[in-house]
Amino acid sequence: MSKTKPNSESNTKLWGGRFKELTADIMNRIGESISFDKELYSQDIRGSLAHAQMLCKIGILSNKELTSIEKGLQKIQIEIETGKFEYKMELEDIHMHIESRLTQLIGEAGKKLHTARSRNDQVSQDVRLYILDQISLIENELILLLEQLLLKARTSIDVLFPGYTHLQIAQPIRASHYFMAHFWAFLRDLELFQYVKETTDLLVLGSGAMAGVNYNSDREFLRKELKLSRISENSMDAVSQRDHIIQYLFAISQCMTHASRVCEEFIIYSSTEFNYIGLPDRLTSGSSIMPQKKNPDVAELIRGKSAMVFGNLMSLLSLVKGTPMAYNRDFQEDKIPMFQSSKHILLSLEGLREMVSGLEIKSSSIEENLKKGFSTATDLADWLVSFKKIPFREAHEIVGNLVSFCTENKLDLFNVSLEDRSRISIHLTDSSYLDSISLYKSADKKNVAGGTARKRQLEQFAQAEKRLKFYRNKRNSKLKKKPISKGQTK
Ligand code: ARG
Repeated sequence: MSKTKPNSESNTKLWGGRFKELTADIMNRIGESISFDKELYSQDIRGSLAHAQMLCKIGILSNKELTSIEKGLQKIQIEIETGKFEYKMELEDIHMHIESRLTQLIGEAGKKLHTARSRNDQVSQDVRLYILDQISLIENELILLLEQLLLKARTSIDVLFPGYTHLQIAQPIRASHYFMAHFWAFLRDLELFQYVKETTDLLVLGSGAMAGVNYNSDREFLRKELKLSRISENSMDAVSQRDHIIQYLFAISQCMTHASRVCEEFIIYSSTEFNYIGLPDRLTSGSSIMPQKKNPDVAELIRGKSAMVFGNLMSLLSLVKGTPMAYNRDFQEDKIPMFQSSKHILLSLEGLREMVSGLEIKSSSIEENLKKGFSTATDLADWLVSFKKIPFREAHEIVGNLVSFCTENKLDLFNVSLEDRSRISIHLTDSSYLDSISLYKSADKKNVAGGTARKRQLEQFAQAEKRLKFYRNKRNSKLKKKPISKGQTK
């Protein structure tokens, strides 16, 4: 990007007659947003095409002028996408860049494009279009991740997994139950993004700088052209609110908390100490000094990126708080957090999906730890209640004594001898003792709706498939109508 010297010849005057001095170098440097908002080029061009058509419809542009604006904008899009477009810091932002290049290309007609429009409504519209485009990409990634989780759950229904509370072994579960627990969290994220789409899906063009415009702008025409659902009710609110960005960043944050939790589990579970899962080599890294190392970098980076994303949400909340009605230049700073969070979530969802698909479950250390962790102690107490008719508190006490004895003698419920059991309680000598502590049976006894029993897993898969199908169909029908455009690439 070319730099300008203070008051140099190359310094362009953007604002026309009002100014006697050229813009200072610091004004250019602090004021520019082109270094980041160039990312909005395709949305800006889309908005300008609709605006130009509307201006032609209300008689401000002739058909000829409209055609040359359309051709000029298409050319600019190609120039940007092929890296031939020249960016200049003194042209501030993407809106000024496109407009000035248009005038360079087609002359007078280019200067008419900004009639009945301010950059305040223009930028707000561009950002809305950008968020809607990004949500399509995020939804797609979320659907792929959900499909992968469901697949992993189906293929691991007969594999045991340790259930934890307080990071202490709690109860045995089917591995499918574990993967499905995360499935439902990400499905909620997908649902939250539907809500964000609704708030964002709004036409704000026509609001001008803040009070509306002095022309008979056809906002309904613009709404249809841009395939939006609603028209903003108040021009001041339209140019000054950033709720949709805040909600978008919140939805990303919620989703990243879910991603970060799974990652934390993968980091712990793949350690030598736990050894419950193995991550594929292709998603890990080695150490430059320690030859034995295999580090879970993808998981750690996703956990790290979640922190950045939460920070971005805080940035937006703080940015808006304290800004008086209506537009304030502070709002220009809303874009970096938005672009950054969009990139982080897309990368993270893809990385997570790859890990879920490639991970290997290590059953022998899982079973060993489930035994070591007395994971079926509750089942034993419940068995004393149902078969020996012992009150639950008393049963709890007996099993507690047995666990304490085993811990002191480095034993578990499976290898403690009959003799030792009989010393603790005569009730523990029954021949069905071993059956009552069976790991698989423990899982299948949780036969309530939403429980970890095999039958309930199958039920869950059916529910999940139905919900997923709804979103998959929604996405497919949208893709048929409007394939993801080039400008939407990650
Ligand atoms: N680059 C600006 C932004 O992102 C565009 C709006 C400028 N409006 C203004 N009144 N200076 O917010």
